[in-house]
Amino acid sequence: MDKFLEYVDKHQNDFVERLRKAVAIPSVSGDPAHRPDVFRMSEFLVEELKSLGASVETRDLGKQDWHGQQLDLPPIVLATVGNNPEKKTILVYGHYDVQPALLEDGWSTNPFELVEDENNRLIGRGSSDDKGPVLGWINVVEAHKALGLELPVNIKFCLEGMEESGSEGLDALIFDEASKYFKDVDGVCISDNYWLGTTKPCLTYGLRGVSYFHMKVKGPRADLHSGVFGGTVHEPMTDLVAVMSKLVNPDGKILVPGIYEQVRALSPEEEKTYDDLAFQMEELHDAVGNKINIHDTIRKTLQCRWRNPSLSLHGIEGAFYSPGDKTVIPAQVTGKFSIRTVPDMDPKQVSALVVKFCQDEFAKLGSKNTLDVHCTHDGNYWLSSPNHPNYVAAAKAVETVYGVKPDLTREGGSIPVTLSFQDALKKNVLLLPMGRGDDGAHSINEKLDRSNYIKGTQLLGAYLYEVSEVKL
Ligand code: BES
Ligand code: MN
Ligand code: MN
Repeated sequence: MDKFLEYVDKHQNDFVERLRKAVAIPSVSGDPAHRPDVFRMSEFLVEELKSLGASVETRDLGKQDWHGQQLDLPPIVLATVGNNPEKKTILVYGHYDVQPALLEDGWSTNPFELVEDENNRLIGRGSSDDKGPVLGWINVVEAHKALGLELPVNIKFCLEGMEESGSEGLDALIFDEASKYFKDVDGVCISDNYWLGTTKPCLTYGLRGVSYFHMKVKGPRADLHSGVFGGTVHEPMTDLVAVMSKLVNPDGKILVPGIYEQVRALSPEEEKTYDDLAFQMEELHDAVGNKINIHDTIRKTLQCRWRNPSLSLHGIEGAFYSPGDKTVIPAQVTGKFSIRTVPDMDPKQVSALVVKFCQDEFAKLGSKNTLDVHCTHDGNYWLSSPNHPNYVAAAKAVETVYGVKPDLTREGGSIPVTLSFQDALKKNVLLLPMGRGDDGAHSINEKLDRSNYIKGTQLLGAYLYEVSEVKL
């Protein structure tokens, strides 16, 4: 392991160059115009893995229906490094697609050009979510090949290009391949989340689920002039805003009846897991960029992030949003919102409660417009235990590389595939993050600190050494 750690440190700049190439490919899965780039990104990974001696195959997932347009789904990249039956096999998952990013959104630099600032932060879309971690695994393979060292375990890669857009087709593939490609997998490791704060690494054993909703209100045949029709017709936007305002209050309380009844009670044991976490209110303020916290304590804040549901309003499609004034009555508008779900919420029940509530609230308006509300996709919450040997191995790796014991955390975000791997393969899944809590995933100026990328690469490798020695 020492030779490996030393190699990574010495070859920092090569690894940064690899990240630079990856960030330069704008693999935005949510934008059809970028779909060819998502494919290019898959080809980049295939080439990198092949050149390191992995046996690589890609799985075609067919087509995606995007508002009536048929788009090719990017492939799942499956790669195997080593197939020694004496060794354990660790499955590594990551995603090579990224969130959209435009300079006009407020980025300080071109989002698809990796820039290292004076604080050694590697800035660029996907640097932290999730290209840095995916390349971290590849760096581990490269280091071993270059040193002529055998890896302590066999690695199976499963890399997807639609994570940010609902992972269409991946679940079916996982269940389908459980007894084939994934047959020999002993444990799973996903590096696709972040430290709690900015100084201490963590291992993560829980995620919230997410249920996403579209609510469309339709009325006139086409957009109307508000001078001619204002005050004389039911306006879709007015109806929509009225219903959306009923979903959640400004203190973050969900107003849909029946939601909180499904939430698991907080036990004294769980309460203890919020003691002694390396996280300060100031770090939260820094990450947010303002002091707009609802709760005054870290404990309550983390409980609301990790183990309570939340409802966020995301946008209104069809609304006038350009600069300047336009006196329009939009003909149809679609409100978008999502609920982060937690133990023991059931997505089917959540969806039924939300749909009924919106319909009831709309009916109360007495509007002659029409409403259609439905759940567009859902992924369940995931909760594991940090006592499993897979986590014990990872904790040792953290101590080797960082010299500290990791925090044990849950997260508020969602990686639906985590639960799918656990259910389909019946194996333990570990979340082992590379980046920091202030990396700004999905936001402007997303970054990964150089030290997190390099030490993170060491950490992923060290974990493979430690996990090779435990019984999974
Ligand atoms: N890497 C994130 C998941 C994540 C977010 C983990 C925050 C920990 C903290 C992932 O790429 C992501 O953005 N997931 C989506 C899933 C959704 C599209 C189903 C999310 O959480 O919104
Ligand atoms: Mn991610
Ligand atoms: Mn993401």
